[in-house]
Order: sequence, then structure tokens, then C-alpha cells
Amino acid sequence: MERLTVELGSRSYPILIGDGLLGEIGRHVAPLLKRPRTMIVTDEHVAPYYLDAASAALAAEGVTVSSLVLPAGESSKSWAGLARLTEWLIGEGVERSDHVIALGGGVIGDLVGFACSVVKRGSAFVQMPTTLLAQVDSSVGGKTAINVAAGKNLIGAFHQPALVVIDPTTLATLPRRELGAGYAEVVKYGLIDDADFFAWCEANGAALLAGDGDARHKAIAHSVAAKARIVAADERETQDIRALLNLGHSFGHALEAETGYSDRLLHGEAVAAGMVLAHQFSAANGLCPPEDAARVRDHLASVDLPHSLASAGINSGGAALAAHMAHDKKVRGGKLPLILTRGIGQSFVTEDYGLDAVSAFLDDR
Ligand SMILES: NC(=O)c1ccc[n+]([C@@H]2O[C@H](COP(=O)([O-])OP(=O)(O)OC[C@H]3O[C@@H](n4cnc5c(N)ncnc54)[C@H](O)[C@@H]3O)[C@@H](O)[C@H]2O)c1
Ligand SMILES: [Zn+2]
Repeated sequence: MERLTVELGSRSYPILIGDGLLGEIGRHVAPLLKRPRTMIVTDEHVAPYYLDAASAALAAEGVTVSSLVLPAGESSKSWAGLARLTEWLIGEGVERSDHVIALGGGVIGDLVGFACSVVKRGSAFVQMPTTLLAQVDSSVGGKTAINVAAGKNLIGAFHQPALVVIDPTTLATLPRRELGAGYAEVVKYGLIDDADFFAWCEANGAALLAGDGDARHKAIAHSVAAKARIVAADERETQDIRALLNLGHSFGHALEAETGYSDRLLHGEAVAAGMVLAHQFSAANGLCPPEDAARVRDHLASVDLPHSLASAGINSGGAALAAHMAHDKKVRGGKLPLILTRGIGQSFVTEDYGLDAVSAFLDDR
């Protein structure tokens, strides 16, 4: 088992990574509890595979568990989902120190985290992520949110978990398409500031996706260590450090919005195409060698991820896509900070390029 720490002073917390940790969750959670009682929240896809094992591991430590199984999918990250979950927690008599366990992907993690940020003005929770995306990204860092009609993740809070427990073997049941979407966020860490890790991805990405356990463990540990470092340096994204995690996301969000946030294009798939566009836009503006942009495109294409507007299923013009970007919640004073790059592993934040330039660039794709 590997143990990392998110260094946030008195709110620091460990991240445990190891095959089989699901069956040991009781041993890691029980010491955090003031009374032998906790609640597990999961979704209907994850529950049949992992809920019994998690509950049994807690019971083995003498912890009484109750559980709530929510519908799978983004629709649970809603006012209705939040109401249902918070009312259930209150009905269960939740205490602040019960350490509610989020067992599932980013949807469950974001929803449980947000619910716990408001229940009793702040209750402890544990992340037990079961998708690759959640294991490398969303379970660490304390961003929690729900979606509203006006957009995704617009209502939320920063609320750090008390513990993150990652069992990579839970990925065995994850659909291949979801695995690929999570892998895009793995590649992102290489592209942000770690060219060696991108080269590692080029060499090992296919094996990881095919089920190689060592490759999965290495990618998760490396990614989560990078995320932990970035979060420790800039917890609330007030400097330009945490913003780098949005590499590919401004372009990606435009593609997600254009496809109606539907399963035509998963978030990670949009990010894959978005990272290629960010590199190509950088190259078009003389910032990045065109060979680097081509390398990024070729690697993502080689693992069947979208790597162009066409392969993302988009045939709209630049103006329509740029219009979505204008509504990005990161717009400051009318300007959208873009994450661009000087080459693989050399990303930076800039406000030097207007959406008109982005629109013209996208028209040429
Ligand atoms: N908080 C953050 O920092 C952050 C970062 C990135 C993304 N997010 C959020 O995360 C969400 C996406 O997360 P996601 O991609 O994990 O989606 P998800 O939670 O919807 O999971 C994807 C699908 O896989 C299923 N599933 C989960 N684990 C499984 C397993 N082990 N075996 C079989 N099926 C399994 C789920 O039921 C769901 O159908 C979005 O809402 C996004 O906004 C948050
Ligand atoms: Zn993302």
C-alpha cells in the first residue's frame, strides 16, 4: 500500500492506494470515528459490486453501517439529489464525526462532499473512488458541487475529505469507455508540467487500459501525487497553480456544452479533444512546436480517445463553440483565462488571447 498526504495544515489528509483496500476500509475508517457508526453513499451501478464488501469490512471492525443507493449518473448531482441525501443523513441521525463514505465515481464524490459541507454546518467524509477519473482527480482536492439548470458545478463548496482510499482493483468492472475518459485526465498531468510522465503514458497507456495492474497503480499514484501537490500549493485556485488542472478543459467544456452534456461525449473524452486543441492553438500562435501538438494528438488517437472536433462528433463552427466558452465560470472581468503551452509539460495560464481568436482558430479545424 502506498500512502500520500495532501498537506493542508490542520486539514491535511492521507491518500491510501492499494489493491484490495476496499476489503480493508474498516481498518482505516474505524480509527477516525468517535462512535462505531457510519453511512455509505453509492450509486446503483457500484452497489452490486462493492457495497457488501465495504459494509462487511466496516462491520468486521465493529462499525454499524447504513447505506443509501442513488441513481447512477449526473442527474443525482442536483438539488433533488442533494435534498434526498441530506434529508437521509439527518434521518439517520448523522453526527459531524461519522465520516460519511462516498463509494463511487465523481458524481457520488462531488454530491456527498457537498452534502457533508452543509450538513450540520460541516461533517466529515471519506472518498472511496471507483472510477479512474475519480481515483486520479475528483476524489482529491475538496472541490464539491451539484449542477443547476444554468450549468454544471455552479453550486458548491470547498470541503476537503478526511481520508481518500483508492483500490485500483475496483476498475476491473468499469466500462472501457469510462476508463478511457479517466485516462485523459492521467495524460493531463504529463502535459501540465511533467514531460517524462507523458512519455511514460505513451509507452504504457495501452497496457493500462487493457488491464495491466502495475501500470494502473503507477498512473494513479503518480497522478494523485501531482494533484495533491497542486492542491497543497493553491487550495482555492487563487493563484495560477491549481488553474493548470484545467488544461484542455475550456475547449473541452465548449464541446461538452455543444453535445448537451450527454453521453455522446463524456467529460474526459471532451478533455482529450480539448487538450489537443489547446496544443494546436498554442502551436498556431507560435508558442509550442507543432511536433508536440502532433504527439499529443497521436497518443490520444492511439488509445481511441477523441483527438479532433470531428472525432469528438462536433461539426459546429468556431462561433458556436466560443460562445459556450464565454459562459465558462472561470471568466474574469469578461476575459477567459486559457491554459496554453510552450510544449509538452510546459503549460501556463494566459489571458492574452480573446475568444475571437479562439473562434477563428476553431473555424479552421
Ligand atoms: N471535484 C472535482 O475536483 C472534480 C474533478 C473532475 C470531475 N468532477 C466531477 O466528476 C463527475 C464525473 O465523475 P465520473 O467520471 O467518475 O462519473 P460517474 O460518477 O458518473 O461514474 C461513471 C459511471 O461509472 C459507474 N461506475 C463507477 N464506478 C464503477 C465501477 N467500479 N464499476 C462499474 N461501474 C462503475 C457509475 O455508476 C457511472 O455510471 C462529474 O460530475 C464531474 O463534474 C469533479
Ligand atoms: Zn476534468
